[in-house]
Amino acid sequence: MDIEKVKVEVETDAQAVVSFHHLEEFRVKYLGRKGVLAQLTGQIPLLPKEARAGFGQQVNALKNRVTVIVTEKEKTVSPVQTEETQGVSCDITMPGITQDIGHLHPITQIIEEICSIFNKMGFRVVEGPEIETEYNNFSGLNIPLEHPSRDAFDTFYLNPSSVQTEKYLLRSHTSPMQVRVMKSAKPPFAIVVPGRVYRPDAVDASHSFMFHQIEGLLVDDGIRFSDLKGMLEVFAKSVFGTDIHMRFRPHFFPFTEPSVEVDISCFKCKGKGCSVCGRKGWLEILGAGMVHPNVFRNVGYDGDYTGFAFGMGVERIAMLKYGINDIRIFFENDLRFLKQF
Ligand code: PHE
Repeated sequence: MDIEKVKVEVETDAQAVVSFHHLEEFRVKYLGRKGVLAQLTGQIPLLPKEARAGFGQQVNALKNRVTVIVTEKEKTVSPVQTEETQGVSCDITMPGITQDIGHLHPITQIIEEICSIFNKMGFRVVEGPEIETEYNNFSGLNIPLEHPSRDAFDTFYLNPSSVQTEKYLLRSHTSPMQVRVMKSAKPPFAIVVPGRVYRPDAVDASHSFMFHQIEGLLVDDGIRFSDLKGMLEVFAKSVFGTDIHMRFRPHFFPFTEPSVEVDISCFKCKGKGCSVCGRKGWLEILGAGMVHPNVFRNVGYDGDYTGFAFGMGVERIAMLKYGINDIRIFFENDLRFLKQF
């Protein structure tokens, strides 16, 4: 190592020291255990005897020079010392620790998208409790105790406490909010209710014991089935594209009459039949109907009201929209999946 070259390098390097961080690098480079000065010192015994003393003096002088530079630079690059920072070394030029920016879960995104479509049509977004009374989940909705359609729903009861007169359960659909809202308000009103629901289903690619629904309810004078059709069409076309067709199939729900299941033409194959729609050309997206007179009676409405209600599974809509074939992936918190939304 040529000491003359090193002397020049020390001075240029010193010029470049403008932060505490640089100074630390400079110190390690020259004064570190394997630094330049240690290497120069290591060369001394290898020199011819008569050259050793002179070279040793030069190395010493250089070491002193480097030490002076370090002490001087310390004064200029150290952060301003206040009473608080006395004795604490901190480099304000160090890059900060940034926070990772996350985003909403795809299910939350779909819920917001759907609610905002209905919001534009005048529906208010309300939420209800996941722990419901048996009455609101079943009887109030015209689903009697012995009715077979309770089977698919009858689920997750809470242990009764000695003070409760009501039975409580985890709601198996968002429809109990129909009862709650109608009991506390007089028409006209239009609401959508997003939220979690629970069912006694074994988990597989298309079932989960917990999933999300969005309920809709509109009550006023003179509401007709065609109002329901029109609004569902606006909804389906906003989510799946304006070129889809809709199909209303007669169905049965105890709390609506007439009741329907609503299909859209497969947006992938345009109704021809493909793997997305199971060769049927149609995709089921929700259940709906006109509010059953017994439900109006149960909530104490005596006026001449009419209304419609609908309910859809959020995961199902998201799976159709994004071509996802396994519901479990929504709940696994796998960032490789979540980051795609
Ligand atoms: N609650 C029904 C279900 O979970 C869906 C529905 C809601 C049907 C409102 C008609 C009216 O399957």
